[in-house]
Amino acid sequence: MRYLDVDITPKISKIGLGAWQFGSREWGYGDAYAEREADAIVHRAIDLGVTLFDTAEIYGFGRSERILGRALGDRRASVFLATKLFPLLPVAPVVEQRAVASANRLGTRLLDLYQVHQANPVVRDGTTMRGMRALQTVGLVGEVGVSNYTLDRWRAAEQALGSRVLSNQVQYSLVCRGPEDDLLPYAEAQQRVIIAYSPLAQGLLGAKYDRDHPPAGRVRAGNPLFLPENLDRAADLLGVLREVARAHDASPAQIALAWVIRHPAVTAIPGASSVAQLESNVAAADIELTADEDTALRAAAARFQPISGRSAIPKLIRSRRRR
Ligand SMILES: NC(=O)c1ccc[n+]([C@@H]2O[C@H](COP(=O)([O-])OP(=O)(O)OC[C@H]3O[C@@H](n4cnc5c(N)ncnc54)[C@H](OP(=O)(O)O)[C@@H]3O)[C@@H](O)[C@H]2O)c1
Repeated sequence: MRYLDVDITPKISKIGLGAWQFGSREWGYGDAYAEREADAIVHRAIDLGVTLFDTAEIYGFGRSERILGRALGDRRASVFLATKLFPLLPVAPVVEQRAVASANRLGTRLLDLYQVHQANPVVRDGTTMRGMRALQTVGLVGEVGVSNYTLDRWRAAEQALGSRVLSNQVQYSLVCRGPEDDLLPYAEAQQRVIIAYSPLAQGLLGAKYDRDHPPAGRVRAGNPLFLPENLDRAADLLGVLREVARAHDASPAQIALAWVIRHPAVTAIPGASSVAQLESNVAAADIELTADEDTALRAAAARFQPISGRSAIPKLIRSRRRR
């Protein structure tokens, strides 16, 4: 495992583990996964040097936090535990109550990283960060983070907190490269962290799905990337991923992850549906892509133009009916 060069203890692993899948029915992994596989995934991750574990109060309405807390058990101290506040009404007293509730579900006295899941369009960050500051003062929260924040709003949150907001958790992958414009340079210059979510584009970049074999579960039934037309359009990118993968004796998913974590400020938090996937994802931390491979992957990613936005909606409805 490799770790981020940031003054944090325990060090943050370049590959973490996303726990949305734990206990969230919309992924469709079932009870055996929640009751047994999730535990095994967490333990294997710790064995392999993963320190960053990410969950949120909204995942499975608290079930993900409970499952993760139970799985960590007496190994809790060795990890950097991150959860998120769903900012329905993120005023200071609510922020404080919700942090306590998350800590209880996780069975911990410290949230190493407490993140605002997304920017609230109405409630500004002043009151939210007042709550965060109080939580840091009493020692329930170590570092404060945000998620899905623009750079301006991230900076505003830092100003409101009066100290660093360590991380911004954003979608970042070969099919979603927006954070490269401003968030990555800011993070690198300021010793901040970008936590890349959906680094495998929810499994698309694992290269095992096509129009005849779409993934199961409501999450991906609602993701336009898995529309039959988009799976067709992704064939070229997946082909380049396979080609680079062959040169490294690796899998397409490993190359997709190695690409995401090339940047020094980035850690990725792929979800895993099995221990084998987790092991494969961790091994991606050791893959070094060449500049030529990076160029080829970027070019293929730029050629991939999925149907998205409004034009995807009627197609999504039709495709859900067919499943
Ligand atoms: N802050 C936010 O707003 C936000 C939003 C989304 C996610 N997140 C966080 O980010 C984490 C990861 O994102 P995500 O779950 O959306 O997407 P992801 O990590 O890109 O995709 C995870 C899925 O990819 C497949 N996969 C994983 N490893 C693989 C491998 N080695 N080979 C082939 N397929 C593999 C698995 O699905 P199958 O095996 O079923 O194909 C797995 O469930 C979440 O768990 C959550 O913690 C945060």
